[in-house]
Amino acid sequence: MNQAKWAYSEKVRDHFMNPRNVLEDEAAFDADGRGVTGSVKCGDEMLVVIKVDHERGVITDCRWQTYGCASAIASTSVLSEMVKGMRLEDAYRLSARDVNRALGGLPEHKVHCSVLGDKALRQAINDYYERHGMPEKIQREEERVVCHCMNVTDVEIEHAVLEGARTFYELQERTKVGTVCGECHSEVKQLLEFYQNKHFAEK
Ligand code: FES
Repeated sequence: MNQAKWAYSEKVRDHFMNPRNVLEDEAAFDADGRGVTGSVKCGDEMLVVIKVDHERGVITDCRWQTYGCASAIASTSVLSEMVKGMRLEDAYRLSARDVNRALGGLPEHKVHCSVLGDKALRQAINDYYERHGMPEKIQREEERVVCHCMNVTDVEIEHAVLEGARTFYELQERTKVGTVCGECHSEVKQLLEFYQNKHFAEK
């Protein structure tokens, strides 16, 4: 591989070349929770399964499989190490930013690939709650239409930001949001700022 063109940190390389906690045989893994997510556009699909210490509410094992790219593989590999020994509530709150930080950073245009692992993990945790009689703990990530003229949702805006939209104009180019009556402009601008802070601002 051409070293000069490798845009990833050593840690990303290590986790990509030697992924940890890959699920070899799902039938042999007695999962307490299972989550699947994917982006057809990105060509990625992610499966995450967890085992839980029921008394302590702590994740004892986390395995995963993906057909995703280097960023998806490396980020889920490091995520699977981070969550072992973590309380379910704390693992649920992990974000792509936490994972990226643990990896030493990803190229901005690849950050959206890294959200697959933590999204599938949240689904696995919700699945655990459902299977074990705790439906009141399930948190749903609702999608909401922000621009009614073009039927663009907050989730699509977030994905566009993750894929590199930094200005309102770039957001419009990707999603066509706000290109008709303009009533949604102020909310779209707020969301643009919110998602940029959420995923890219240093804290
Ligand atoms: S509501 Fe977005 S352009 Fe009309």
